[in-house]
Amino acid sequence: MSDLGTPRPVVSAGEITVSGVSKSYGATGFQKEVVRECSFSIERGKLTVMIGPSGCGKSTLIRLLAGFEAPSTGTIKLDGESVSGPSRDRLVLFQESALFPWMTTYDNILYGPRARGEVTAQVLEFAEFLLNKVGLQDFRKKYPTQLSGGMQRRAELARAMINNPEVMILDEPFRGLDAMTKELMWEYYSGLFEESGRTNFFVTTDIDEAVFLADRMLIMSNIPTQVRAVLEVDVPRPRKLADIVVSDRANQIKMEALSILHEEAMKSFSRGSKAAADFVEAYTRRTAKS
Ligand SMILES: Nc1ncnc2c1ncn2[C@@H]1O[C@H](COP(=O)(O)OP(=O)(O)OP(=O)(O)O)[C@@H](O)[C@H]1O
Ligand SMILES: [Mg+2]
Repeated sequence: MSDLGTPRPVVSAGEITVSGVSKSYGATGFQKEVVRECSFSIERGKLTVMIGPSGCGKSTLIRLLAGFEAPSTGTIKLDGESVSGPSRDRLVLFQESALFPWMTTYDNILYGPRARGEVTAQVLEFAEFLLNKVGLQDFRKKYPTQLSGGMQRRAELARAMINNPEVMILDEPFRGLDAMTKELMWEYYSGLFEESGRTNFFVTTDIDEAVFLADRMLIMSNIPTQVRAVLEVDVPRPRKLADIVVSDRANQIKMEALSILHEEAMKSFSRGSKAAADFVEAYTRRTAKS
């Protein structure tokens, strides 16, 4: 990615600490525990990827990190300060597209600063920088329905980055994209991450996505979700798909992660969990393929 030479705001990267967090829903006596005793950190300036089976409680954890809901027990801190509600410090990109359909790409990107009445010359310059960065300068006047799925996701990345959050939180942002677009988005997004030095937390169910993107990988159990393992993905950056596919280290980490996920799946299968059969099927097939 070329440096466009435009001045950018200084990025401040925060660190999140999650300690003994549990979350249950429902009335007393009929409670459903979704998150159980989770402790982990989202380290400053790193890309932490959380991988776990569908329905295990990942989005629930994200709602807690974002401050949309409070944990039943435990604490979440950003740079030592307890998280007590939503804040632009912790911006979330959701599973579903959140672009406003009645706004152009440009207006969508500028939405946050405008809503806060903070549109300065520097912000407008930053908007131009980001439009170029995500390759949408020729689509600035188009509406979301006139953009491809990949372009929509890139517009959302720009719309989040303009707010300069301490931590970017992304909940399966590339789910539903076709395989080729998804792989292009990995390179795109990791390039943005590598340049920004920002703290990122990325949630996925896709093992290849996790290995490609992560500095650290948190492997989660099935519901009620817990951290099963933390793997350091010590594969050099910048990362390119062609290199990762043939990297022995990346493949070794992938196999290690798969074996933990598979073991976890077998455990919940033997407990008779409804989701476990899908879980076993998904990760067994992927192990066999590689
Ligand atoms: N407000 C709520 N009340 C009751 N149950 C809930 C609530 N929110 C989530 N759950 C339950 O928590 C479980 C986990 O949901 P969650 O969306 O966190 O999973 P997920 O890991 O993000 O799944 P996916 O990968 O499919 O997005 C589900 O069984 C869901 O029914
Ligand atoms: Mg989810």
